[in-house]
Amino acid sequence: MTKTRQELIKKYLDFFKSKNHEVLGSASLIPENDPSILFTTAGMHPLVPYLIGQKHPLGKRVVSVQKCIRTSDIDEVGDAFHHTFFEMLGNWSFGDYFKKDAIEWSFEFLTRDLGIPVEKLGISVFAGDKDAPKDEESAEIWKKLGIKKERITYLPKKNNWWGPAGETGPCGPDTEMFYYIGNDRPSKESNPGNDEENWCEIWNDVFMQYNKTKEGKYKELKNKNVDTGMGVERTLAVINGLKDNYETTIFNPVIKKIEEISKKNYNDEKTKRSIRIIADHIRSATFILGDEKQIPPSNIDQGYVIRRLIRKAIRHGKLIGIENDFTAKIANVVIELYKEDYDELENNKKFILDEMQKEEERFRETLERGLKEFDKIAKADEKIINAKDAFILYQSFGFPLEMTIELAKEKGLEVDAQGFNKEYELHQDVSRIGSEKKFKGGLGEISYVTTRLHTATHLLNQALRNVIDPSIKQKGSNITPERLRFDFNYDKKLTDKQLKDVEDEVNKVINLGLNIERKEINLDEAKRLGAQALFVDKYAKKVSVYIVGDYSKEVCAGPHVNNTIEIGKFKILKEEAVAAGIRRIKAIVE
Ligand code: ALA
Repeated sequence: MTKTRQELIKKYLDFFKSKNHEVLGSASLIPENDPSILFTTAGMHPLVPYLIGQKHPLGKRVVSVQKCIRTSDIDEVGDAFHHTFFEMLGNWSFGDYFKKDAIEWSFEFLTRDLGIPVEKLGISVFAGDKDAPKDEESAEIWKKLGIKKERITYLPKKNNWWGPAGETGPCGPDTEMFYYIGNDRPSKESNPGNDEENWCEIWNDVFMQYNKTKEGKYKELKNKNVDTGMGVERTLAVINGLKDNYETTIFNPVIKKIEEISKKNYNDEKTKRSIRIIADHIRSATFILGDEKQIPPSNIDQGYVIRRLIRKAIRHGKLIGIENDFTAKIANVVIELYKEDYDELENNKKFILDEMQKEEERFRETLERGLKEFDKIAKADEKIINAKDAFILYQSFGFPLEMTIELAKEKGLEVDAQGFNKEYELHQDVSRIGSEKKFKGGLGEISYVTTRLHTATHLLNQALRNVIDPSIKQKGSNITPERLRFDFNYDKKLTDKQLKDVEDEVNKVINLGLNIERKEINLDEAKRLGAQALFVDKYAKKVSVYIVGDYSKEVCAGPHVNNTIEIGKFKILKEEAVAAGIRRIKAIVE
Protein backbone atom coordinates (compact mmCIF):
# COMPACT_ATOMS: atom_id res chain seq x y z
CA MET A 1 0.00 0.00 0.00
CA THR A 2 1.24 3.48 -0.85
CA LYS A 3 2.66 5.29 2.12
CA THR A 4 2.01 9.03 2.15
CA ARG A 5 4.04 12.04 3.22
CA GLN A 6 1.71 12.68 6.14
CA GLU A 7 2.10 9.11 7.39
CA LEU A 8 5.88 9.27 7.27
CA ILE A 9 5.99 12.58 9.14
CA LYS A 10 3.56 11.41 11.79
CA LYS A 11 5.50 8.20 12.34
CA TYR A 12 8.72 10.11 12.81
CA LEU A 13 7.32 12.67 15.23
CA ASP A 14 5.49 9.99 17.22
CA PHE A 15 8.59 7.85 17.43
CA PHE A 16 10.68 10.64 18.92
CA LYS A 17 7.83 11.77 21.16
CA SER A 18 7.98 8.28 22.61
CA LYS A 19 11.67 8.96 23.32
CA ASN A 20 10.76 12.12 25.27
CA HIS A 21 11.31 14.69 22.54
CA GLU A 22 9.20 17.86 22.30
CA VAL A 23 7.79 18.67 18.87
CA LEU A 24 8.72 22.00 17.25
CA GLY A 25 6.86 23.69 14.40
CA SER A 26 8.77 24.58 11.22
CA ALA A 27 10.59 27.92 11.37
CA SER A 28 10.50 30.46 8.55
CA LEU A 29 12.50 29.72 5.38
CA ILE A 30 14.27 33.04 5.91
CA PRO A 31 16.65 32.78 8.87
CA GLU A 32 16.21 35.46 11.47
CA ASN A 33 19.40 37.15 12.57
CA ASP A 34 21.78 35.12 10.46
CA PRO A 35 23.49 37.29 7.89
CA SER A 36 25.63 34.50 6.48
CA ILE A 37 22.95 32.67 4.59
CA LEU A 38 19.79 33.44 2.60
CA PHE A 39 17.68 30.43 3.50
CA THR A 40 17.07 27.87 6.18
CA THR A 41 18.95 24.90 4.71
CA ALA A 42 18.48 22.33 7.48
CA GLY A 43 16.39 21.59 10.52
CA MET A 44 19.29 22.58 12.75
CA HIS A 45 19.49 26.09 11.40
CA PRO A 46 16.87 27.70 13.67
CA LEU A 47 18.40 25.73 16.55
CA VAL A 48 21.96 27.03 16.30
CA PRO A 49 21.77 29.14 19.51
CA TYR A 50 20.85 25.99 21.46
CA LEU A 51 23.56 23.89 19.83
CA ILE A 52 26.17 26.35 21.03
CA GLY A 53 24.96 26.39 24.57
CA GLN A 54 21.79 28.45 25.08
CA LYS A 55 19.08 26.75 27.05
CA HIS A 56 16.08 25.66 24.97
CA PRO A 57 12.75 26.48 26.63
CA LEU A 58 11.45 22.99 25.78
CA GLY A 59 14.36 21.11 27.24
CA LYS A 60 17.21 19.04 25.86
CA ARG A 61 15.36 16.90 23.29
CA VAL A 62 13.38 18.26 20.35
CA VAL A 63 12.07 16.92 17.05
CA SER A 64 10.71 18.75 14.01
CA VAL A 65 9.85 18.76 10.35
CA GLN A 66 11.45 21.83 8.82
CA LYS A 67 10.91 23.43 5.40
CA CYS A 68 14.27 23.97 3.70
CA ILE A 69 15.70 25.57 0.56
CA ARG A 70 19.06 24.59 -0.92
CA THR A 71 19.89 26.39 -4.14
CA SER A 72 23.31 24.79 -4.26
CA ASP A 73 21.61 21.78 -5.82
CA ILE A 74 19.77 23.79 -8.47
CA ASP A 75 21.76 22.37 -11.39
CA GLU A 76 21.08 18.80 -10.28
CA VAL A 77 17.34 19.36 -10.33
CA GLY A 78 15.86 17.36 -13.16
CA ASP A 79 17.18 14.02 -11.92
CA ALA A 80 15.10 11.72 -9.73
CA PHE A 81 16.30 12.81 -6.28
CA HIS A 82 17.45 16.44 -6.11
CA HIS A 83 15.29 19.37 -5.08
CA THR A 84 15.64 23.04 -4.26
CA PHE A 85 12.86 22.79 -1.65
CA PHE A 86 12.46 19.84 0.66
CA GLU A 87 11.20 18.97 4.10
CA MET A 88 13.65 17.70 6.67
CA LEU A 89 12.77 15.52 9.61
CA GLY A 90 15.19 15.83 12.49
CA ASN A 91 15.75 15.06 16.15
CA TRP A 92 18.13 16.91 18.46
CA SER A 93 19.96 16.43 21.67
CA PHE A 94 21.29 19.59 23.28
CA GLY A 95 24.04 18.10 25.40
CA ASP A 96 21.86 15.14 26.37
CA TYR A 97 22.05 11.78 24.55
CA PHE A 98 24.91 11.15 22.13
CA LYS A 99 26.14 8.53 19.65
CA LYS A 100 24.73 5.39 21.23
CA ASP A 101 21.11 6.50 21.61
CA ALA A 102 21.08 8.49 18.39
CA ILE A 103 22.28 5.54 16.30
CA GLU A 104 20.17 2.94 18.13
CA TRP A 105 17.03 5.03 17.61
CA SER A 106 17.86 5.66 13.97
CA PHE A 107 18.23 1.90 13.49
CA GLU A 108 15.03 1.15 15.39
CA PHE A 109 13.01 3.68 13.41
CA LEU A 110 14.33 2.54 10.03
CA THR A 111 14.01 -1.18 10.57
CA ARG A 112 11.00 -1.42 12.87
CA ASP A 113 8.80 1.61 12.12
CA LEU A 114 9.61 1.94 8.43
CA GLY A 115 10.16 -1.78 7.95
CA ILE A 116 13.41 -1.42 5.98
CA PRO A 117 15.27 -4.78 5.83
CA VAL A 118 18.72 -4.61 7.45
CA GLU A 119 20.34 -5.99 4.25
CA LYS A 120 19.21 -2.88 2.40
CA LEU A 121 20.93 -0.48 4.77
CA GLY A 122 24.42 0.88 4.14
CA ILE A 123 26.35 3.13 6.50
CA SER A 124 29.14 5.67 6.27
CA VAL A 125 31.16 7.05 9.18
CA PHE A 126 33.90 9.65 9.49
CA ALA A 127 37.37 8.42 8.52
CA GLY A 128 39.22 10.90 10.77
CA ASP A 129 41.69 13.69 10.04
CA LYS A 130 43.67 16.41 11.84
CA ASP A 131 40.48 17.99 13.23
CA ALA A 132 38.78 14.91 14.69
CA PRO A 133 39.55 11.20 15.14
CA LYS A 134 38.26 8.24 13.12
CA ASP A 135 34.77 7.42 14.35
CA GLU A 136 35.24 3.80 15.41
CA GLU A 137 32.70 4.31 18.15
CA SER A 138 29.81 4.83 15.72
CA ALA A 139 30.95 1.94 13.53
CA GLU A 140 30.98 -0.37 16.58
CA ILE A 141 27.45 0.67 17.55
CA TRP A 142 26.21 -0.10 14.02
CA LYS A 143 27.90 -3.49 14.04
CA LYS A 144 26.36 -4.40 17.37
CA LEU A 145 22.95 -3.59 15.92
CA GLY A 146 23.51 -6.10 13.12
CA ILE A 147 25.01 -4.08 10.27
CA LYS A 148 27.68 -6.20 8.58
CA LYS A 149 31.15 -4.65 8.56
CA GLU A 150 31.26 -4.79 4.73
CA ARG A 151 28.29 -2.43 4.63
CA ILE A 152 30.14 0.24 6.61
CA THR A 153 32.45 2.63 4.81
CA TYR A 154 34.82 5.22 6.30
CA LEU A 155 34.80 8.50 4.38
CA PRO A 156 36.63 11.82 4.73
CA LYS A 157 35.40 15.26 5.77
CA LYS A 158 34.04 15.97 2.29
CA ASN A 159 31.43 13.24 2.84
CA ASN A 160 31.08 12.61 6.55
CA TRP A 161 31.22 15.95 8.24
CA TRP A 162 28.31 18.31 8.48
CA GLY A 163 28.14 22.03 8.97
CA PRO A 164 28.34 24.77 9.80
CA ALA A 165 25.24 25.95 7.96
CA GLY A 166 26.78 29.38 7.32
CA GLU A 167 30.40 30.53 7.57
CA THR A 168 30.77 29.70 11.23
CA GLY A 169 28.93 27.69 13.86
CA PRO A 170 28.30 24.20 15.16
CA CYS A 171 29.44 21.21 13.13
CA GLY A 172 30.93 17.76 13.52
CA PRO A 173 31.51 14.29 12.12
CA ASP A 174 28.45 12.41 10.99
CA THR A 175 27.23 8.93 10.20
CA GLU A 176 24.94 8.59 7.20
CA MET A 177 22.36 5.97 6.39
CA PHE A 178 21.77 4.77 2.84
CA TYR A 179 19.11 2.63 1.21
CA TYR A 180 20.03 0.18 -1.53
CA ILE A 181 18.29 1.16 -4.76
CA GLY A 182 20.10 -1.23 -7.11
CA ASN A 183 18.10 -3.75 -9.10
CA ASP A 184 19.23 -6.96 -7.44
CA ARG A 185 20.34 -7.58 -3.91
CA PRO A 186 23.53 -5.76 -2.94
CA SER A 187 26.66 -7.88 -3.39
CA LYS A 188 28.51 -8.89 -0.24
CA GLU A 189 31.08 -6.11 -0.58
CA SER A 190 28.77 -3.34 -1.80
CA ASN A 191 28.59 -0.24 0.38
CA PRO A 192 27.90 3.52 -0.08
CA GLY A 193 31.63 4.15 -0.50
CA ASN A 194 32.47 1.64 -3.25
CA ASP A 195 29.11 1.37 -5.03
CA GLU A 196 27.87 4.95 -4.79
CA GLU A 197 25.20 4.98 -7.47
CA ASN A 198 23.28 2.10 -5.91
CA TRP A 199 22.98 3.64 -2.47
CA CYS A 200 20.67 6.58 -1.76
CA GLU A 201 21.32 8.65 1.37
CA ILE A 202 18.20 9.02 3.50
CA TRP A 203 19.32 10.07 6.97
CA ASN A 204 22.25 11.75 8.62
CA ASP A 205 23.17 11.72 12.32
CA VAL A 206 25.60 14.54 13.05
CA PHE A 207 27.60 14.60 16.25
CA MET A 208 27.95 18.31 16.80
CA GLN A 209 30.89 18.69 19.09
CA TYR A 210 32.71 21.56 17.39
CA ASN A 211 32.22 25.21 16.63
CA LYS A 212 33.95 26.46 13.48
CA THR A 213 35.38 29.91 14.08
CA LYS A 214 35.92 32.82 11.69
CA GLU A 215 39.56 31.78 11.48
CA GLY A 216 38.55 28.30 10.28
CA LYS A 217 39.43 26.55 13.56
CA TYR A 218 37.35 23.76 15.10
CA LYS A 219 36.82 24.40 18.79
CA GLU A 220 35.22 21.84 21.13
CA LEU A 221 31.73 22.92 22.14
CA LYS A 222 30.66 22.96 25.75
CA ASN A 223 28.01 20.37 24.95
CA LYS A 224 28.06 17.23 22.87
CA ASN A 225 24.98 17.55 20.67
CA VAL A 226 23.14 15.43 18.17
CA ASP A 227 21.63 16.92 15.02
CA THR A 228 19.91 14.66 12.53
CA GLY A 229 18.28 15.15 9.17
CA MET A 230 16.09 12.86 7.08
CA GLY A 231 14.81 14.05 3.71
CA VAL A 232 11.07 13.45 3.48
CA GLU A 233 10.96 13.23 -0.33
CA ARG A 234 13.73 10.65 -0.69
CA THR A 235 12.70 8.52 2.22
CA LEU A 236 9.13 8.45 1.02
CA ALA A 237 10.28 7.33 -2.41
CA VAL A 238 12.46 4.47 -1.18
CA ILE A 239 9.99 3.10 1.34
CA ASN A 240 7.45 2.95 -1.46
CA GLY A 241 9.93 1.04 -3.63
CA LEU A 242 10.22 3.98 -6.05
CA LYS A 243 13.37 5.25 -7.71
CA ASP A 244 11.92 8.65 -8.44
CA ASN A 245 10.76 11.22 -5.88
CA TYR A 246 8.40 12.67 -8.47
CA GLU A 247 6.39 9.45 -8.45
CA THR A 248 5.44 9.84 -4.78
CA THR A 249 2.18 11.28 -3.50
CA ILE A 250 4.08 14.53 -2.83
CA PHE A 251 4.39 15.23 -6.52
CA ASN A 252 1.63 13.20 -8.18
CA PRO A 253 -0.96 16.01 -8.36
CA VAL A 254 1.65 18.56 -9.48
CA ILE A 255 2.92 16.32 -12.27
CA LYS A 256 -0.65 15.58 -13.33
CA LYS A 257 -1.38 19.29 -13.61
CA ILE A 258 1.75 19.89 -15.71
CA GLU A 259 0.80 16.96 -17.96
CA GLU A 260 -2.68 18.37 -18.35
CA ILE A 261 -1.45 21.88 -19.25
CA SER A 262 1.36 20.74 -21.56
CA LYS A 263 -0.46 17.72 -22.98
CA LYS A 264 2.79 15.80 -22.52
CA ASN A 265 3.38 12.57 -20.68
CA TYR A 266 5.73 12.47 -17.68
CA ASN A 267 7.02 9.07 -18.75
CA ASP A 268 8.22 10.39 -22.07
CA GLU A 269 11.97 10.70 -21.62
CA LYS A 270 12.08 13.72 -23.95
CA THR A 271 10.04 15.89 -21.59
CA LYS A 272 10.68 14.28 -18.18
CA ARG A 273 13.53 16.56 -17.13
CA SER A 274 11.61 19.74 -17.94
CA ILE A 275 8.50 18.50 -16.14
CA ARG A 276 10.58 17.73 -13.05
CA ILE A 277 12.24 21.16 -13.15
CA ILE A 278 8.88 22.90 -13.40
CA ALA A 279 7.44 20.85 -10.52
CA ASP A 280 10.46 21.44 -8.31
CA HIS A 281 10.96 25.12 -9.05
CA ILE A 282 7.33 26.17 -8.75
CA ARG A 283 7.03 24.28 -5.46
CA SER A 284 10.07 26.17 -4.10
CA ALA A 285 8.94 29.55 -5.41
CA THR A 286 5.50 28.96 -3.85
CA PHE A 287 7.04 28.25 -0.46
CA ILE A 288 9.37 31.27 -0.55
CA LEU A 289 6.65 33.64 -1.74
CA GLY A 290 4.28 32.16 0.81
CA ASP A 291 6.71 32.31 3.70
CA GLU A 292 5.68 34.11 6.87
CA LYS A 293 7.99 36.89 5.69
CA GLN A 294 6.30 37.26 2.26
CA ILE A 295 9.22 37.80 -0.11
CA PRO A 296 8.34 39.15 -3.59
CA PRO A 297 10.50 38.46 -6.70
CA SER A 298 13.26 41.05 -7.11
CA ASN A 299 16.88 41.43 -8.18
CA ILE A 300 18.37 40.88 -4.76
CA ASP A 301 18.78 38.13 -2.20
CA GLN A 302 15.86 35.75 -1.68
CA GLY A 303 13.77 37.72 -4.19
CA TYR A 304 16.32 36.97 -6.89
CA VAL A 305 16.23 33.28 -6.09
CA ILE A 306 12.45 33.29 -6.60
CA ARG A 307 12.91 35.14 -9.88
CA ARG A 308 15.46 32.59 -11.12
CA LEU A 309 13.25 29.67 -10.13
CA ILE A 310 10.13 31.04 -11.81
CA ARG A 311 11.98 32.10 -14.96
CA LYS A 312 13.69 28.75 -15.32
CA ALA A 313 10.35 26.99 -14.91
CA ILE A 314 8.82 29.21 -17.60
CA ARG A 315 11.60 28.43 -20.04
CA HIS A 316 11.19 24.72 -19.41
CA GLY A 317 7.46 25.17 -19.88
CA LYS A 318 8.20 26.67 -23.26
CA LEU A 319 10.51 23.77 -24.10
CA ILE A 320 7.68 21.31 -23.61
CA GLY A 321 5.24 23.42 -25.57
CA ILE A 322 3.44 25.50 -22.94
CA GLU A 323 2.81 28.89 -24.54
CA ASN A 324 0.38 30.44 -22.06
CA ASP A 325 0.75 31.52 -18.45
CA PHE A 326 0.79 28.47 -16.23
CA THR A 327 2.92 29.00 -13.13
CA ALA A 328 0.09 30.25 -10.88
CA LYS A 329 -1.97 27.19 -11.81
CA ILE A 330 0.81 24.88 -10.62
CA ALA A 331 1.34 27.00 -7.50
CA ASN A 332 -2.32 26.54 -6.70
CA VAL A 333 -1.89 22.76 -6.67
CA VAL A 334 1.15 23.11 -4.38
CA ILE A 335 -0.83 25.29 -1.96
CA GLU A 336 -3.64 22.73 -1.83
CA LEU A 337 -1.17 19.93 -1.12
CA TYR A 338 0.56 21.64 1.80
CA LYS A 339 -1.87 24.14 3.26
CA GLU A 340 -2.94 21.91 6.12
CA ASP A 341 0.59 21.72 7.45
CA TYR A 342 1.69 25.23 6.49
CA ASP A 343 -1.16 27.64 7.05
CA GLU A 344 1.02 30.52 5.83
CA LEU A 345 0.45 29.17 2.29
CA GLU A 346 -3.30 29.51 2.65
CA ASN A 347 -2.99 32.91 4.37
CA ASN A 348 -0.68 34.23 1.65
CA LYS A 349 -2.43 32.53 -1.24
CA LYS A 350 -3.43 35.74 -3.01
CA PHE A 351 0.06 37.18 -2.65
CA ILE A 352 1.65 33.97 -4.00
CA LEU A 353 -0.62 33.69 -7.02
CA ASP A 354 -0.52 37.43 -7.86
CA GLU A 355 3.26 37.66 -7.62
CA MET A 356 3.73 34.47 -9.64
CA GLN A 357 1.41 35.77 -12.34
CA LYS A 358 3.07 39.20 -12.46
CA GLU A 359 6.52 37.64 -12.71
CA GLU A 360 5.39 35.41 -15.54
CA GLU A 361 3.87 38.35 -17.42
CA ARG A 362 7.05 40.37 -16.96
CA PHE A 363 9.25 37.59 -18.22
CA ARG A 364 7.09 36.59 -21.15
CA GLU A 365 7.39 40.14 -22.49
CA THR A 366 11.11 39.64 -23.06
CA LEU A 367 11.51 35.86 -23.30
CA GLU A 368 10.74 35.50 -26.99
CA ARG A 369 12.97 38.40 -28.01
CA GLY A 370 15.64 37.25 -25.59
CA LEU A 371 15.74 33.78 -27.13
CA LYS A 372 16.11 35.33 -30.61
CA GLU A 373 18.91 37.52 -29.30
CA PHE A 374 20.54 34.45 -27.76
CA ASP A 375 20.46 32.64 -31.12
CA LYS A 376 22.13 35.60 -32.78
CA ILE A 377 24.77 35.81 -30.06
CA ALA A 378 25.37 32.06 -30.13
CA LYS A 379 26.10 32.23 -33.86
CA ALA A 380 28.40 35.22 -33.54
CA ASP A 381 30.28 34.16 -30.40
CA GLU A 382 31.09 30.66 -31.67
CA LYS A 383 32.59 28.66 -28.75
CA ILE A 384 32.12 31.01 -25.79
CA ILE A 385 29.34 33.46 -25.07
CA ASN A 386 31.29 36.51 -23.98
CA ALA A 387 30.62 38.42 -20.77
CA LYS A 388 29.13 41.49 -22.45
CA ASP A 389 26.61 39.41 -24.38
CA ALA A 390 25.64 37.41 -21.30
CA PHE A 391 25.15 40.69 -19.50
CA ILE A 392 22.96 42.09 -22.27
CA LEU A 393 20.79 38.97 -21.99
CA TYR A 394 20.55 39.59 -18.26
CA GLN A 395 19.94 43.30 -18.31
CA SER A 396 17.74 43.74 -21.36
CA PHE A 397 15.93 40.42 -21.44
CA GLY A 398 15.98 39.32 -17.78
CA PHE A 399 17.92 36.09 -18.41
CA PRO A 400 19.58 34.97 -15.17
CA LEU A 401 23.18 33.86 -15.82
CA GLU A 402 22.36 30.22 -15.22
CA MET A 403 19.67 30.34 -17.89
CA THR A 404 22.21 31.62 -20.41
CA ILE A 405 24.60 28.87 -19.30
CA GLU A 406 21.89 26.26 -19.75
CA LEU A 407 20.93 27.57 -23.20
CA ALA A 408 24.59 27.65 -24.17
CA LYS A 409 25.13 24.08 -22.97
CA GLU A 410 22.28 22.89 -25.16
CA LYS A 411 24.26 24.23 -28.13
CA GLY A 412 27.58 22.88 -26.90
CA LEU A 413 28.80 26.37 -25.95
CA GLU A 414 30.27 27.86 -22.80
CA VAL A 415 29.71 31.19 -21.09
CA ASP A 416 32.32 33.53 -19.62
CA ALA A 417 30.68 33.47 -16.19
CA GLN A 418 33.59 35.12 -14.42
CA GLY A 419 33.55 37.99 -16.88
CA PHE A 420 29.80 38.26 -16.42
CA ASN A 421 30.23 38.64 -12.67
CA LYS A 422 32.79 41.40 -13.20
CA GLU A 423 30.45 43.14 -15.60
CA TYR A 424 27.74 42.75 -13.04
CA GLU A 425 29.75 44.33 -10.26
CA LEU A 426 30.67 47.17 -12.58
CA HIS A 427 26.99 47.92 -12.84
CA GLN A 428 26.89 48.01 -9.08
CA ASP A 429 23.97 45.72 -8.73
CA VAL A 430 24.07 44.44 -5.18
CA SER A 431 22.53 41.05 -5.66
CA ARG A 432 24.62 37.92 -5.49
CA ILE A 433 24.50 35.30 -8.18
CA GLY A 434 24.15 31.61 -7.59
CA SER A 435 25.03 31.59 -3.93
CA GLU A 436 23.26 31.38 -0.63
CA LYS A 437 26.33 32.51 1.21
CA LYS A 438 26.27 36.17 2.08
CA PHE A 439 28.42 37.86 4.64
CA LYS A 440 30.97 36.53 7.01
CA GLY A 441 29.74 35.68 10.47
CA GLY A 442 26.50 33.92 11.16
CA LEU A 443 24.57 32.61 14.06
CA GLY A 444 27.54 30.62 15.24
CA GLU A 445 29.44 33.86 15.54
CA ILE A 446 27.99 35.00 18.84
CA SER A 447 30.64 37.43 19.98
CA TYR A 448 30.15 40.07 22.63
CA VAL A 449 29.60 42.76 20.03
CA THR A 450 26.85 40.78 18.25
CA THR A 451 25.24 40.13 21.64
CA ARG A 452 25.22 43.89 22.34
CA LEU A 453 23.78 44.56 18.88
CA HIS A 454 21.14 41.93 19.52
CA THR A 455 19.90 43.68 22.67
CA ALA A 456 20.13 47.07 20.91
CA THR A 457 17.79 45.64 18.24
CA HIS A 458 15.14 44.97 20.88
CA LEU A 459 15.43 48.55 22.11
CA LEU A 460 15.24 49.95 18.59
CA ASN A 461 12.16 47.83 17.89
CA GLN A 462 10.40 49.29 20.92
CA ALA A 463 11.65 52.84 20.38
CA LEU A 464 10.20 52.88 16.85
CA ARG A 465 6.79 52.04 18.29
CA ASN A 466 7.08 54.60 21.08
CA VAL A 467 8.42 57.45 18.99
CA ILE A 468 7.04 56.88 15.48
CA ASP A 469 3.98 54.67 15.36
CA PRO A 470 2.55 52.01 17.70
CA SER A 471 1.62 49.78 14.76
CA ILE A 472 5.25 49.26 13.69
CA LYS A 473 6.31 45.64 13.64
CA GLN A 474 9.59 43.89 12.93
CA LYS A 475 9.82 42.49 9.40
CA GLY A 476 13.35 41.18 9.56
CA SER A 477 16.61 41.44 11.44
CA ASN A 478 20.15 40.77 10.39
CA ILE A 479 23.22 41.21 12.56
CA THR A 480 26.91 41.06 11.67
CA PRO A 481 29.74 41.95 14.04
CA GLU A 482 29.87 45.30 12.24
CA ARG A 483 26.27 46.48 12.46
CA LEU A 484 22.62 45.66 13.01
CA ARG A 485 20.00 45.88 10.28
CA PHE A 486 16.34 46.10 11.14
CA ASP A 487 13.36 46.03 8.76
CA PHE A 488 9.91 47.22 9.76
CA ASN A 489 6.61 48.20 8.24
CA TYR A 490 6.13 51.92 7.64
CA ASP A 491 5.13 53.68 4.47
CA LYS A 492 7.03 56.96 4.70
CA LYS A 493 10.66 57.91 4.88
CA LEU A 494 11.63 58.82 8.44
CA THR A 495 12.74 62.43 8.84
CA ASP A 496 16.11 63.33 10.33
CA LYS A 497 14.29 64.56 13.41
CA GLN A 498 12.44 61.27 13.83
CA LEU A 499 15.65 59.29 13.47
CA LYS A 500 17.36 61.48 16.03
CA ASP A 501 14.43 61.03 18.43
CA VAL A 502 14.57 57.24 18.04
CA GLU A 503 18.34 57.21 18.55
CA ASP A 504 18.02 59.44 21.64
CA GLU A 505 15.35 57.22 23.13
CA VAL A 506 17.48 54.08 22.67
CA ASN A 507 20.49 55.79 24.27
CA LYS A 508 18.33 57.04 27.13
CA VAL A 509 17.19 53.47 27.88
CA ILE A 510 20.76 52.15 27.60
CA ASN A 511 21.89 54.71 30.17
CA LEU A 512 19.13 53.75 32.58
CA GLY A 513 21.10 50.56 33.15
CA LEU A 514 18.10 48.22 32.94
CA ASN A 515 18.58 44.55 33.69
CA ILE A 516 17.62 41.96 31.12
CA GLU A 517 15.62 39.05 32.40
CA ARG A 518 14.82 35.80 30.63
CA LYS A 519 11.57 33.93 31.28
CA GLU A 520 10.41 30.60 29.94
CA ILE A 521 6.65 30.62 29.62
CA ASN A 522 3.99 29.49 27.18
CA LEU A 523 3.24 31.57 24.12
CA ASP A 524 -0.22 32.69 25.25
CA GLU A 525 1.20 33.94 28.50
CA ALA A 526 3.96 35.77 26.62
CA LYS A 527 1.35 37.45 24.46
CA ARG A 528 -0.69 38.36 27.52
CA LEU A 529 2.40 40.01 28.94
CA GLY A 530 2.47 42.08 25.78
CA ALA A 531 5.62 40.51 24.38
CA GLN A 532 6.43 41.00 20.69
CA ALA A 533 6.08 37.53 19.23
CA LEU A 534 6.63 37.42 15.49
CA PHE A 535 7.93 34.47 13.49
CA VAL A 536 7.72 32.26 16.54
CA ASP A 537 6.90 28.60 16.77
CA LYS A 538 3.14 28.62 17.26
CA TYR A 539 3.19 25.02 18.38
CA ALA A 540 5.88 25.11 21.02
CA LYS A 541 4.62 24.59 24.55
CA LYS A 542 7.13 27.07 25.92
CA VAL A 543 9.06 30.02 24.53
CA SER A 544 11.75 32.24 25.98
CA VAL A 545 10.94 35.92 26.52
CA TYR A 546 13.60 38.56 27.07
CA ILE A 547 12.41 41.41 29.28
CA VAL A 548 14.38 44.65 29.34
CA GLY A 549 13.37 46.41 32.58
CA ASP A 550 9.88 47.75 32.02
CA TYR A 551 10.81 48.89 28.53
CA SER A 552 10.63 45.94 26.13
CA LYS A 553 9.48 42.33 25.98
CA GLU A 554 10.18 40.01 23.08
CA VAL A 555 9.99 36.31 22.38
CA CYS A 556 13.51 35.52 21.19
CA ALA A 557 16.23 32.88 21.29
CA GLY A 558 18.86 35.35 22.52
CA PRO A 559 21.62 35.81 23.46
CA HIS A 560 21.50 39.19 25.21
CA VAL A 561 23.64 41.27 27.53
CA ASN A 562 22.77 41.32 31.24
CA ASN A 563 22.34 45.06 31.56
CA THR A 564 21.61 47.71 28.93
CA ILE A 565 24.63 49.74 29.98
CA GLU A 566 26.81 47.08 28.32
CA ILE A 567 25.46 48.08 24.91
CA GLY A 568 27.47 51.33 24.77
CA LYS A 569 26.49 54.18 22.48
CA PHE A 570 23.83 53.45 19.85
CA LYS A 571 24.11 55.20 16.51
CA ILE A 572 21.81 55.08 13.47
CA LEU A 573 23.78 55.14 10.22
CA LYS A 574 21.13 54.92 7.57
CA GLU A 575 17.41 54.64 6.87
CA GLU A 576 16.06 53.48 3.52
CA ALA A 577 13.22 51.70 1.73
CA VAL A 578 13.58 47.98 0.94
CA ALA A 579 10.19 47.22 -0.55
CA ALA A 580 6.77 48.85 -0.73
CA GLY A 581 5.81 49.75 2.84
CA ILE A 582 9.01 48.33 4.37
CA ARG A 583 11.81 50.51 5.76
CA ARG A 584 15.28 49.48 6.90
CA ILE A 585 17.53 50.97 9.55
CA LYS A 586 21.24 50.25 9.85
CA ALA A 587 22.87 51.07 13.16
CA ILE A 588 26.00 50.38 15.20
CA VAL A 589 27.04 50.37 18.82
CA GLU A 590 30.24 52.08 19.96
N1 ALA B 1 22.12 19.04 9.53
C1 ALA B 1 22.29 17.75 8.97
C2 ALA B 1 21.94 17.69 7.52
O1 ALA B 1 21.39 18.63 7.00
C3 ALA B 1 21.53 16.75 9.74
O2 ALA B 1 22.21 16.71 6.87
